[in-house]
Amino acid sequence: MENIVEMISQRELARRVEELAQELNADYAGKEAVFICLLKGAAVFMADLMRHINFDITTEYMEIASYSSNQPTGKIDMKKDIGVDIAGKDVVVIEDIIDTGATLKFIREHLQTKNPNSIKYCVLLDNPVRRQEGCLNPDYTGFTIPNRYVFGYGLDHDGKHRNLPFVAALTI
Ligand code: IMP
Ligand code: MG
Repeated sequence: MENIVEMISQRELARRVEELAQELNADYAGKEAVFICLLKGAAVFMADLMRHINFDITTEYMEIASYSSNQPTGKIDMKKDIGVDIAGKDVVVIEDIIDTGATLKFIREHLQTKNPNSIKYCVLLDNPVRRQEGCLNPDYTGFTIPNRYVFGYGLDHDGKHRNLPFVAALTI
């Protein structure tokens, strides 16, 4: 593996993910929600987050491709849609990272056509520097990070390193 630097430790991730779950537990107490995980990057985050959730949830998975060679392509493809009706449901979209915001904007426009009661966005990492006009800000954010390419804890670097238990960046 190339030279990497740890940006967010396993311990910090575990603590913050539990805090995010407590925020959701407070906001959704007595309700039921559909958690929609954006594959592949958010799989590790959602797996950890949902084990601290104490209200009723169902889980769905969508796959969007918006990046190639670590650069925004400006093109977003839906590889896999959800398989259930979310009309009238409270939806929480679980995402690994928001950068320009184009991916979550696409997701919002797509999910809104399915008439859910509400949609909130829970994002582990926020890289706000390159956010575009008209893009949403997350309702729940784990960490705000500097403008660097990060990977590990579900996020990839050229398809690899999703298995790292911490969030890393390349040394510069
Ligand atoms: P956005 O559409 O520009 O907000 O980019 C968000 C998507 O790009 C996320 O779903 C990630 O898949 C990917 N992405 C953005 N920044 C990074 C990064 O630093 N590491 C890994 N994936 C990233
Ligand atoms: Mg993604």
